[in-house]
Amino acid sequence: MFTANDFIPKKYTSDITKGNFEWSAPSNIALVKYWGKKDNQIPANPSVSFTLNNCKTITKLAFDKKDFSDNFTFDLLFEGKPKEDFKPKIQKFLERVFIYLPFLKDYHFTIDTQNTFPHSSGIASSASGMAALAMNFMSLEKVLNPEMTEEYFYQKASFLARLGSGSACRSVKGNVVVWGNQANIKGSSDLFGVEFPNAIHKNFNNYQDTILLVDKGEKQVSSTVGHDLMHNHPYAERRFAQAHENLDKLITVFENGNLDEFIKVVESEALTLHAMMMTSMPYFILMKPNTLQIINAIWKFRNETQIPVCFTLDAGANVHVLYPENVTEKVLQFIQDELVVFCQNGQYLCDKIGDGAIAL
Ligand code: DP6
Repeated sequence: MFTANDFIPKKYTSDITKGNFEWSAPSNIALVKYWGKKDNQIPANPSVSFTLNNCKTITKLAFDKKDFSDNFTFDLLFEGKPKEDFKPKIQKFLERVFIYLPFLKDYHFTIDTQNTFPHSSGIASSASGMAALAMNFMSLEKVLNPEMTEEYFYQKASFLARLGSGSACRSVKGNVVVWGNQANIKGSSDLFGVEFPNAIHKNFNNYQDTILLVDKGEKQVSSTVGHDLMHNHPYAERRFAQAHENLDKLITVFENGNLDEFIKVVESEALTLHAMMMTSMPYFILMKPNTLQIINAIWKFRNETQIPVCFTLDAGANVHVLYPENVTEKVLQFIQDELVVFCQNGQYLCDKIGDGAIAL
């Protein structure tokens, strides 16, 4: 069993004064949701996600050795311009990961980051952003410790990303990623995401995710606050147990390719996530009227056509429409004809399952 201490490095054997790295890391969409956590970003239940392909963050990290190493120093650029509002989050991340990356105070960093999706689209960039940053820091650590194995590189990258934002640990490597210890998933861990270890049925090859942008405004309740409200939540224990059960169901679904079962688990998870929000104290609702319009339209379309299209939601009003590759044309036509009217400014993003972070 891994412990966090396994990621505290021994003395580095190599050195570097200056340079830069660049990584892209994708967003991901959870099928079984992470909602509720313990101290140190340990999830209250296991989750699983599809890694996305097109929605990603691209981050360049430049580093330059300093004379004094008593503080973290860094500049932050977002789409080429200094972005002061993002700095506290990065500062907090650096403080959290310092014991695992003891070189962080030795360099001045310039973090230059951009997203491929429109900002203020309501798509969270914390998963892709934290994953991209973690990859860059691991590239630097690999220079300092050239003996590092590839397995350790990716595991620790996911471990670090998790400390930035929980779901970010699922944006590092693999199409289908599990995070959180689950009895029947070999290698699964609360500390980092792992690629789903078994073979996955061909029905899921190139699975499509069209993201309908229902509401692009700032969320009234952040994920961090939402997670916190799972403490002393009346349904928490049952919900956490249900996530384990739903993962068991998906183990079978990924093996046999049964899309009816897939849809049941995925839609139930999405609605359960939002049910947890509605039954928190204080309670809140992140869905919008158009979110429900879309859900109802998808159910009607699926009933009438038997096309295995379903929805999931993250912590917001946007709807992820999930479907296998072979029905893409019909589903995109349906989206055009019936769902675009419910999107803010008619906007939606076409994405699909992807492989994870890429060194550029
Ligand atoms: C609803 O990973 O954003 O998207 O760990 O506090 O940064 P923090 O939370 P975050 O929560 C994501 C919640 C979710 C479900 C999921 O992605 O599993």
